Amino acid sequence: MIGIALLGSTGSIGRSTLEVVGRHRDLFQVVALAANRRVDELARQVERFRPAAAVVADTAAWDRSGGSPEASEARWTSGREEILALTRRPDVDVVVNALVGAAGLEVTLAALEAGKRLALANKESLVAGGPLVLEAAARGGGQLVPVDSEHSAILQCIEGSPRASVGRLVLTASGGPFRGWNPERLRDVRPGDALRHPTWEMGAKITVDSATLANKALEVIEAHFLYHVPYEDIDVVVHPQSIVHSFVEFVDGSVLAQVGMPTMELPILYALSYPGRVADRALRTFDPVRFSPLTFEEVDEVSFPLFGLGAQAGRRGGLAPAAFNAGNEVAVAAFLEERVRFTEMPDVVAGALAAVPPGEPRRVEDVLEADRMARAAARAVVERLSRVETRRGS
Ligand SMILES: NC(=O)c1ccc[n+]([C@@H]2O[C@H](COP(=O)([O-])OP(=O)(O)OC[C@H]3O[C@@H](n4cnc5c(N)ncnc54)[C@H](OP(=O)(O)O)[C@@H]3O)[C@@H](O)[C@H]2O)c1
Repeated sequence: MIGIALLGSTGSIGRSTLEVVGRHRDLFQVVALAANRRVDELARQVERFRPAAAVVADTAAWDRSGGSPEASEARWTSGREEILALTRRPDVDVVVNALVGAAGLEVTLAALEAGKRLALANKESLVAGGPLVLEAAARGGGQLVPVDSEHSAILQCIEGSPRASVGRLVLTASGGPFRGWNPERLRDVRPGDALRHPTWEMGAKITVDSATLANKALEVIEAHFLYHVPYEDIDVVVHPQSIVHSFVEFVDGSVLAQVGMPTMELPILYALSYPGRVADRALRTFDPVRFSPLTFEEVDEVSFPLFGLGAQAGRRGGLAPAAFNAGNEVAVAAFLEERVRFTEMPDVVAGALAAVPPGEPRRVEDVLEADRMARAAARAVVERLSRVETRRGS
């Protein structure tokens, strides 16, 4: 039986993980669940999966909720430290990090330091603290297995091949809801438009990231750290059907791709069972005729400049990816609150990137400091832009 700590259980990846685990109760046991503030939903999950522990990260939300449900057998606690403690439990084999944003960094580091398998959905932690994450895995003996469908695809293609045989990675991108739009048309995009993704159902932050293509820049950086491939050998191609999840080109010119329905349940199951495969009838729905034709296009970096900004931050290295990520989190929140326009998000992120001096992250505090500086600079740009907009509106 594989013991699972699912952190971020009330989110999109969290719920999909529970769907998968619920179909395979003979293989997986939910040992711990954690969420930020949706206590009621967490309580329903606890009732269904009966974990030993449940943690609410936000102590104010926990206090408001009036404490643990009477009938619960789980040990309920609250706070960030309690979440980190879950990663060290001896009955936990796999930690699923399904938190959103750089808030997931400490979980990623703690799970790897504790020698666990980390099923990583929270790409932001690897982007912000890449070198530290790899060091934590080497020190603690933890194993990093991606949940992102593109990176899972790459893992499935390269499994068993020597690193030297891999020539190039080609990540696929759906192109988001605004594929083919020009900057003029994008200017008036509202949050509701950006939250409607054509092929994937996901949490709000990653859905906006998919619309701006910031998500694909985060994924390029994620691929660099996961597979030790230089940036010049990582390409991105737009594939609107989201059926080919990525390609790997080997040094002899042979290309492998992993193909399947756009569901996160498959990469989640693979991350939980890696390197084995678990039979799952519910996921065997692929039909090549229904999904033909499959098409591929170049990324439009003019309409979607966050892609280029993020890829540049990756190449710059050091603390730049952490700054890009933090600036992007501020930009997404400001866009969702309608404080900046869709087309102003790159200005917010550029402000964050400019505020962080060059330097390598040597300790987690370096990343947290870069994150703090980048957020402060990004918020200043948001303030300036929203004042301009208010003046225009009045
Ligand atoms: N959704 C997808 O299909 C998909 C695909 C690939 C990769 N990913 C990545 O997976 C991660 C999660 O995405 P998502 O779409 O599942 O996000 P989501 O729906 O917004 O869910 C986020 C989860 O994390 C919890 N959470 C947020 N901040 C937290 C904190 N500080 N401490 C503890 N828990 C916290 C939330 O709790 P509350 O519900 O209580 O707020 C929720 O359970 C992201 O990094 C995303 O990029 C997602």
